Amino acid sequence: MKISVIGVGYLGAVHAAGMAELGHDVVGLDVDARRVRQLEAGRAPFHEPGFDETLRRGLDLGRLRFTTEYEDIAGADVHFLGLGTPQRADGFGADLASLHAAVDALAAVLPARDGSPTLVVGKSTVPAGTARGLAERLERIEGVRLLWNPEFLREGFAVGDTLEPDRVVYGVRDPEAADAEIRMLDTVYAPILDGGTPRLVMGYEAAELVKVSANAFLATKISFINAISELCEATGADVTDVSRALGMDDRIGSRFLRAGVGFGGGCLPKDIRAFIASAEDLGVGQSLGFLREVDAINQRRRVRVVELAREMLGPLRGRRITVLGAAFKPDSDDVRDSPALEVASRLMAAGAHVTVTDPEALKNARGHVEGLVTVEDTAEALRGAELVLLLTEWRRYRDLDPSVAAELVAAPRIIDGRAVLDPRTWRAAGWELRALGRPDAPARAGTQVETAGQPAADEPPAAHEPPAAHEPPAAHGRAAAASTAGPDPAAPLLSRG
Ligand code: UGA
Repeated sequence: MKISVIGVGYLGAVHAAGMAELGHDVVGLDVDARRVRQLEAGRAPFHEPGFDETLRRGLDLGRLRFTTEYEDIAGADVHFLGLGTPQRADGFGADLASLHAAVDALAAVLPARDGSPTLVVGKSTVPAGTARGLAERLERIEGVRLLWNPEFLREGFAVGDTLEPDRVVYGVRDPEAADAEIRMLDTVYAPILDGGTPRLVMGYEAAELVKVSANAFLATKISFINAISELCEATGADVTDVSRALGMDDRIGSRFLRAGVGFGGGCLPKDIRAFIASAEDLGVGQSLGFLREVDAINQRRRVRVVELAREMLGPLRGRRITVLGAAFKPDSDDVRDSPALEVASRLMAAGAHVTVTDPEALKNARGHVEGLVTVEDTAEALRGAELVLLLTEWRRYRDLDPSVAAELVAAPRIIDGRAVLDPRTWRAAGWELRALGRPDAPARAGTQVETAGQPAADEPPAAHEPPAAHEPPAAHGRAAAASTAGPDPAAPLLSRG
């Protein structure tokens, strides 16, 4: 099928390459000529495991092109809208300006068709009510039908999530009278649906709400465990014990129960705020009042890391602090609303000499925080530090050998902001370790077989990050972790990978 994807940011670029992978003839459009040139040349504008290969395959097979011109996409059967909907500068609501501009530009070139419809398929995250408004405009053109088909991909797993989603949601004007457009979108997604992925058809508003509710639920789950983390700090309990036991209840589930410095990125934070604003606009602000607390808990964790640094160092002015991680999560170079970078900025504002390292996100980080000192090499970044903060749990940081790291720093002090290090092992190697939600006393002997805190990622550990060349390889492996019957203070950090 002939497909266009309008807006080739993170979501749109991955979707365009994914649709080409499914065998369609795809044109990606963006107003950003530089991005279009980059994609045309087969260069990914962001770090996303597996995306480069998918992009190049699409280009090499001649199934994928990019353009800045709406005329080039006018004849497509299906137009996906992949525009960003960031937080408005003047409040919590979503900024829909690029979405509306794209719909105007598309409407100006769409030919009237009889026979099979032209589909416009919204994928952007929008407040409920947006699709119905856009449909009023677009469906005035003969043969044009609008569907809302929210996207649930996660950064770091975007290609897999596009080609093998958990579910596919179609929002339509009237679920009883949308057979033609449903069949057409089914044809686009045929290889996915044939694989057994559930497809749910519902009204526009329900589809819009599914997306924001999903992100709000995930954010709530994270803030819930982080609130418990505050209780753990007050009582001496270890939040990783609580979260592990909670997660074994099938009704709760273990995913998104990782305590730490909280959620960031281009989606969860702005989506919960837009959701609050949208509920208020609808006159039901009270319903989502709790999301303000979810946001506040999340912000507090960032402040708490800075307090911990003060507790360990005293006044921060002039102290040398190394932050491990800049991206909002591992396997991404995205620094939007990154907890790690916000903590780094707060430490800088307090007068500390901060060095930030990250395997992929340093370029973006420098563009984000003025005057940020960045160092590529982990060992180099650790050298001379009086305090180390682990704030993005890249595998190379989880697998750091505490004895090797202790040789590099000026003083072996670390804050584990993601609760992924094994306090016993690090303390045995001479480190003063503090961790969000974890007591300062060493773990009680025999209480845990797994010695590190919590899974470092929501999913099976990503295999794509090779160990850093200068770092000792993770020789111990999952098998070693599983077979460790009790604590062994002499053992280096057990690899979670
Ligand atoms: C999120 C959703 O997970 C996707 O389903 C959704 O499609 C996407 O937003 C979107 O709206 O586009 P993403 O922003 O890639 O995906 O990141 P997540 O994996 O959700 O992680 C968000 C943040 O939560 C990260 O900073 C991560 O470190 C943090 N997190 C995650 C925790 O602090 N604890 C956890 O247990 C899990």
